[in-house]
Amino acid sequence: KKASVKLNKDFKVADIDDRIYGSFIEHLGRAVYTGIYEPDHPTADEDGFREDVMELIKELDVPIVRYPGGNFVSGYNWEDGVGPVEDRPNRLELAWRTIETNEIGTNEFMKWAEKAGTDVMMAVNLGTRGIDAARNLIEYCNHPGGSYYSDLRKEHGYEKPYNIKTWCLGNEMDGPWQLGHKTAEEYGRLACETAKVMKQVDPDIEFVVCGSSHRNMPTFGEWEATVLEHTYEHVDYISLHQYFGHRTENLPKYLAKSVQMDDFIDSVIAICDYVKAKKKSDKEIYLSFDEWNVWFHSNQADQEMEPWAIAPPQLEDIYTFEDALVVGMMMMSLLKRADRVKMACLAQLVNVIAPIMTKEGGDAWKQTIFYPYYHGCKYGRGTVLEPVISCPTYDTEDFKEVPLVDTVTVMNEQKDELTIFAVNRDLEDSLVFEVELNGFEDYSVLEHIVMESEDVKARNTADNPDNVTPHTGGNATITGVKIVADLPKLSWNVIRLK
Ligand code: AHR
Repeated sequence: KKASVKLNKDFKVADIDDRIYGSFIEHLGRAVYTGIYEPDHPTADEDGFREDVMELIKELDVPIVRYPGGNFVSGYNWEDGVGPVEDRPNRLELAWRTIETNEIGTNEFMKWAEKAGTDVMMAVNLGTRGIDAARNLIEYCNHPGGSYYSDLRKEHGYEKPYNIKTWCLGNEMDGPWQLGHKTAEEYGRLACETAKVMKQVDPDIEFVVCGSSHRNMPTFGEWEATVLEHTYEHVDYISLHQYFGHRTENLPKYLAKSVQMDDFIDSVIAICDYVKAKKKSDKEIYLSFDEWNVWFHSNQADQEMEPWAIAPPQLEDIYTFEDALVVGMMMMSLLKRADRVKMACLAQLVNVIAPIMTKEGGDAWKQTIFYPYYHGCKYGRGTVLEPVISCPTYDTEDFKEVPLVDTVTVMNEQKDELTIFAVNRDLEDSLVFEVELNGFEDYSVLEHIVMESEDVKARNTADNPDNVTPHTGGNATITGVKIVADLPKLSWNVIRLK
């Protein structure tokens, strides 16, 4: 079997916005407490942040982190998390049925983000609260001083405003599970008025308005159109969320899920452009795919959990090798539409459906899905090229003509490098992969990284953290303008050239 790709330096999809490699930390499970923050941990710094976790996050070089939720934000009183820690209340956290101690709040998280070298995408509560709490929060965060909330921030010990640029107008407001769930009309109106008021406090901010919680929501499509009718001139991005699971043990079907993600992205772009046309607007709405991942392993355990614990293990999916392939392909779906997908968040970052796991008082380690995300973060910055692909296909019950090879190429003109990401979806055979390059004379292969495993269910655990890791032994070679490589069956490949 053979797949071929033609690339031309001048045929570009778009420059990648670095924020496409964003992630997410929610007050949920052990993401914050015993995830990024554990004051008694041997590696804790002076603020109680785990430095072992910080190291792994720095290795990824995460550009932006969404905070504080997620479903959590729709019941959050941000005031609970500022001021003297000893005065902060324990609250019933209704989204995940736990106790939130509020030991970490806005200021502590902003401090963590600065240390981690990442920007913050802040969400406001449009579930149980609304315009008033949102305008107070942005005054607290972004106003320099001389007003009640900006002076309160100073009183709390944080002199300088944070100037947080990107704000999410609520979270998954289309979902019946959401605290304060709304119809598209109700939410559209509220999001519009909240955006207007927040912009009066700080005109330099940008907004993400809630799209659908996933592609199969019954209101999908209608929701986006209605919400954008209300908010078009006041927002910059619309959100998309998607999690995939492998519940049927049908691997070819699972590996084809990213086709659904491609379709989801194309559909949302079409809806944005429909509203643009209707409004005769010059403005383009971009996409913020601010929750994406595999999520299903922990569902059963979470259902059986006793409520009202403090930072219990929740959504602790332990990922397999096959999940890493799906995550790699989901990331490629984002890159393929880098012209419109400007931000995205792998959900989440630590312990909760996460590439990084920790043991309380113990080690931090990389899950299988860490690696494709890491490769994107490290080698996938620059410009996506428009390929011409010819490749064998297969059919599943969901999709026809799924290509056996999924691939994206990123050119980094600053570094004079080219990176080809590719997954071979074939369960049985390796595949000959040929790439014809135009405009990259004198390039040679730096390395061909491969992630493969005889056991598709192989995982990395606390006891065996390096069970599944990539290696550099791929056989890609270049002769003249043609790269030839074998892509092993079921493999994630990164072919780097310079
Ligand atoms: O990321 C976990 C949860 O998934 C988020 O809180 C919510 O927005 C989504 O349903």
